[in-house]
Amino acid sequence: MEKKNIDWGNLGFAYMETDKRYVSNYKNGKWDEGALISDAAVTISECACVLQYAQTCFEGLKAYTTEDGHIVTFRPDLNAERMVSSAKRLEMPVFPKERFVDAVAKVVEANEAYVPPFGSGATLYLRPYMFGSNAVIGVKPADEFQFRIFCTPVGPYFKGGVKPLTIRVSDFDRAAPCGTGDIKAGLNYAMSLHAIVSAHQEGYDENMYLDPKTRTKVEETGGANFLFVTKDNKVVTPKSDSILPSITRRSLIYVAKEYLGLEVEEREVFFDEVKDFAECGLCGTAAVISPVGKIVDHGKEICLPSGMTEMGTVTKKLYDTLTGIQMGRIEAPEGWIKVI
Ligand code: PLP
Ligand code: COI
Repeated sequence: MEKKNIDWGNLGFAYMETDKRYVSNYKNGKWDEGALISDAAVTISECACVLQYAQTCFEGLKAYTTEDGHIVTFRPDLNAERMVSSAKRLEMPVFPKERFVDAVAKVVEANEAYVPPFGSGATLYLRPYMFGSNAVIGVKPADEFQFRIFCTPVGPYFKGGVKPLTIRVSDFDRAAPCGTGDIKAGLNYAMSLHAIVSAHQEGYDENMYLDPKTRTKVEETGGANFLFVTKDNKVVTPKSDSILPSITRRSLIYVAKEYLGLEVEEREVFFDEVKDFAECGLCGTAAVISPVGKIVDHGKEICLPSGMTEMGTVTKKLYDTLTGIQMGRIEAPEGWIKVI
């Protein structure tokens, strides 16, 4: 398979149209058989539920070229399961898990020429999503839906690759108590757009959201969960009902315990504790693990001891082990890697 002529090493996290995408339509209470198509455009009613009432959810996962030349995806079954939770919460039909995993494989296969080569630093990002497509004007769910997956080759989510980030505590909330923070609904991201634009304008890379009820506990950022490392090398990660259950985080917890022999605490993390941590990182499919060097709370700076030039030692070990598993350099736990 001849690869596309792309400057893999200099890709950012941006959309590039690729050859094929998967589409399945839901009508009269059932999904059609689905197909790969070439047209990248979506045509829907001006009054589609997604356009009026944001009835949409999505997922994100990556395909990798391993050292020995296979193409693999990482735990697509967990993305399928999370999309089931998102769909249920948004009154959308469930797209069956086996069909999700199969459609991911089809899209990767059909766009093999866009899967970045091993060692290029780039990956193929897959974006499954679903939306209410028929017209509704009263506030109610659609009864027709589209499930789609497109893919695009990407580089690092944050400019500068693995250079530590500076983030700030946001004055805006990301999710309400008993809201939709624990699902991957488009609406969660719509309401974070103003906060991210103003963070960037003020020179910050991301927002740290606190729990909306008490504003004393760390939640997550707009697109990743937090991992902290204590001065005695314990991994600490926030537990909350209003953050997205990150697949990367779940995997890193396992890696920390089972591969690196580290102690892990998944628990409420008070913002007051953050000043005492040794390392901080943002974890997610797009972010992988992006180290944080500085956290600013209304002018008060917390400088992590790991500094602004490189990843902390434990963060680096986690990063190397996880990416080693994903790229086939390190043996993966049973079921984590799906060869295409
Ligand atoms: N939190 C938010 C808000 C996200 O958008 C993401 C990205 O998917 C994550 C966390 C990380 O989740 P995952 O590791 O499953 O990609
Ligand atoms: C992902 O990591 O897959 C996401 O969906 C996060 C988004 C901010 C790109």
